[in-house]
Parts: sequence; C-alpha cells; structure tokens
Amino acid sequence: MLSYRHSFHAGNHADVLKHLVLTSILAYLVRKDKPLCYLDTHAGAGGYALQGVQAQKNREYETGIGCLWERDDLPAPLADYVELVRRFNPGSELQYYPGSPWLARQLLRSTDRLFLHELHPADCAALREQSAGDRRVKVSCADGYQGCIALVPPMERRGLVLIDPPFEVKSDYLRAIETLHQAYRRFATGVYALWYPVVERARVDQLEGALRATGIPGVDRYELGVARDRRGHGMTASGLLVVNPPWILRQEMEQCLPWLAGQLGQEQGRFRMDSLG
Ligand SMILES: C[S@@+](CC[C@H](N)C(=O)[O-])C[C@H]1O[C@@H](n2cnc3c(N)ncnc32)[C@H](O)[C@@H]1O
Repeated sequence: MLSYRHSFHAGNHADVLKHLVLTSILAYLVRKDKPLCYLDTHAGAGGYALQGVQAQKNREYETGIGCLWERDDLPAPLADYVELVRRFNPGSELQYYPGSPWLARQLLRSTDRLFLHELHPADCAALREQSAGDRRVKVSCADGYQGCIALVPPMERRGLVLIDPPFEVKSDYLRAIETLHQAYRRFATGVYALWYPVVERARVDQLEGALRATGIPGVDRYELGVARDRRGHGMTASGLLVVNPPWILRQEMEQCLPWLAGQLGQEQGRFRMDSLG
C-alpha cells in the first residue's frame, strides 16, 4: 500500500526536527576528510511545492518551518538548517521545502556517495529528476529496507543511514527495527537515525522496547512534542532514535529543542532528550 505522500506534510514540525538532526549529524561527519556514505531508506520526492494542492490541504508547514522562516534569533544549528531551506527557495518567500536527499546533497562532498530508495513511482521519478547529473547519487525505486541491508557495510566504512518510513502500515515498526538491527550487525560503526511519529504512545513504547531488546548500545532519543499525547488527535509529537550519535548532537539539541518546544508547541510544547538503555 503506497497511499502516503509526503507532500501533504512537508515542512511540518516533524520535518523540522528530523532535518535539524540530519543536518547536524552530516555537518559534523564532513568535518573529517575521509569519504562517507549516506543511505536514505525512504527518501521521498526530494522537494515539495508548498503552494501545491497537497501541501495546501492542511498547510502543516505553517506550524513547522513557517514559524522559523522570519526569525533572526534562531539557535545556531537551527539557523544553519533554515539557511539550507532558504537556498532551496528562489526568492525571499517560503515557497518550497527540501527533502532529506536534497539537504544531504548540500552538505556532502564530491568524494561522498548517496544511496536513495523510494518506492512510490511518481516520487521516485521526481527524485531521479532532482538528482540527475549528480554522480554521487544512486536512486533506486525499490524497497529501502532490503536496499539498506544489501549496501552495508559501505566501502567507506563511515556513514549515516536515515530510516524514515511512513508508518502507515503497522509492519513498518517491526521492519524498521529489524533492518536497523541487521544493518548494525554488519556495520556497527555507522550512525543510524530512525524517525518515528507519536500518534499512539503505546506504539512508540513498543518500538523503543524492540530496539532495547536488540542490545544495540549508545542510542539517543530526541523528541519534540507540540501537544500532549492523545489518541485520535493525529501526530502530537515525533522523534528520532539515533545510534552512535556524534558527541556534538546532544549539545546542539540542548540548544535547539527547548527553543523549538517553546515556539512550535501548539498547546503544550515539550521535548525529550535522553539515552536508551
Ligand atoms: C516520510 S516519507 C520520506 C521523507 C524523506 N525522508 C524526507 O525527509 O524528506 C516516506 C517515503 O517512503 C516511501 N516508502 C514507503 N515504503 C517504502 C519502502 N518499503 N521502501 C522505500 N520507500 C518507501 C513513501 O512513498 C514515502 O515517500
């Protein structure tokens, strides 16, 4: 079932958190000269028109990136991320929002490689078009879980794996953890970032329990909530579970998450920042 389209949600509070963490990790990893590999298991279309019919349906970006666009008092890591979003826009108005593959391409160097997986045919075609001519990139219109296992360990022996499923089907929870576990067994020094939505807290508790059960050490959790947990009220929060987080990530999130919770919280902004295990 492929009914999920990220264009309905582009630039919302969950994208802000995910892309802040993504850009913070990559900006750190590229400080070292050695090449690295970026693997996106669920890459999306690469970019989204915020004035398009789908993004306009609920205008989720207005309570996400829209709250940051005009600000000149952003904590430094958030300012760096918003600067990248600015680069994706032709003028001073917020019209477009970039996806994870585009953001990664901006930060990675000529010696790095990107492997992008996207199953939806239209989104995959858009992604192909966006990265056409970029010799660092390989786009596969194929299952990202299988693709991830096939690609690790990468020859660079350094890299980031972003696992960002739609969680539309319940099996995504299990497959995401299984994939992370299998990939980790082959490539234990890699950095892994698994995104999750908080729609039903019990599901997130199960996800965390399943990750704990793998015994993978060194997992950090970064979560941003805009409302208190309530079933039937959509996504009230989202988070990332990061395996082998660069040391700087915690420091940067300490700067950003309280600020974001204050600014993006719709009725009750909150954040969690801790280690699992
Ligand atoms: C949350 S979106 C990705 C957003 C993107 N990572 C970003 O941050 O810009 C999830 C995407 O996964 C795609 N998808 C769903 N199941 C997949 C699978 N098994 N393998 C690869 N892509 C899949 C969906 O079509 C959707 O575009």
